[in-house]
Amino acid sequence: MSATIDQAIAALERGDLIHLPTETVYGLGARADRPEAVAKVFEAKGRPRFNPLIVHVADRTQAEAIGVFDARACKLAEAFWPGPLTLVLPVRDREAMCDLARAGLESVAVRVPAHPLAQAILRGFGKGVVAPSANRSGRPSPTRFRDALDETGAHVAASVDGGDCDMGLESTVVSLMDGEARYLRAGLITRAEIEAVIGTLADEASEGHRSPGRLTRHYAPDAPVMLNVTEPPADCVYIAFGPTDFSGPVVQLSDSRNLREAAAHLFAALREADALTPACICVAPVPEAGLGEAINDRLKRAAGFIG
Ligand code: TXA
Ligand code: MG
Repeated sequence: MSATIDQAIAALERGDLIHLPTETVYGLGARADRPEAVAKVFEAKGRPRFNPLIVHVADRTQAEAIGVFDARACKLAEAFWPGPLTLVLPVRDREAMCDLARAGLESVAVRVPAHPLAQAILRGFGKGVVAPSANRSGRPSPTRFRDALDETGAHVAASVDGGDCDMGLESTVVSLMDGEARYLRAGLITRAEIEAVIGTLADEASEGHRSPGRLTRHYAPDAPVMLNVTEPPADCVYIAFGPTDFSGPVVQLSDSRNLREAAAHLFAALREADALTPACICVAPVPEAGLGEAINDRLKRAAGFIG
């Protein structure tokens, strides 16, 4: 049974997950400003990695409050919104799209979907909603209501039935970072259609063949980061997971060793530890189960083990 628009909005307000029908695929939606809500998205997808997500908003005015639009962004928004185009822009409002949702990047991916039910939910909620495809990790994106329910229904508080998705393919992603326009993810809006509006796109190869989601400059602290530390040295800041008897400065991921809470605190914890300018940041072992895999993946990036 389909949830109503009002039920979906109430679920978003509570920080719960929804199924958001869009013209491309069904999204697994959560409010973008609360890391605890965003952590639920990664958890529900299973085998999670903290890839940066797309923030969905009702219109261009809301989009401009979250990202910084240059002339090309304005032209693309004018030509293709609402519709299956996502723009990667410098972030303007870091609270509206929290660190966890951006994977700590200085950029933000924004999209204004055209689907009337997505529009109704986003307009009623009035704020940004992150929504990756509603499948479990590694499985095809759901394009029918029952597929969305099968994939992630157990984790979702309000599933809105929008019928079959018109397009069935995720949005085209274009980055406008660093003064270059790049076609990051192919979609129904083709490279040629984008080029017709803003001119020739930069060669992706010049980015070193990095695929979106694995892109550059994930937040890494200035201090060196050491992982799986159980006996931290005196001159470090210790990022703990649960009770510790360390006598130096401690930043706690989760007192109760709750992985969802730890995921929600992760980026803030790294920043907080770094702000103390320690000789090094030591991080307690975090179990690999469930969300732990994504937390550890992110920690390894912060420590420089993964590029
Ligand atoms: O059609 C769609 O876009 C669907 C529907 C539900 O709206 N959503 C979707 O979201 O496909 P997701 O999270 O599965 O895809 C996000 C894409 C990934 O390729 C990700 O790497 C890229 O956007 N992305 C997000 N933020 C980025 C950023 N700051 N820089 C570069 N790429 C980014
Ligand atoms: Mg997907």
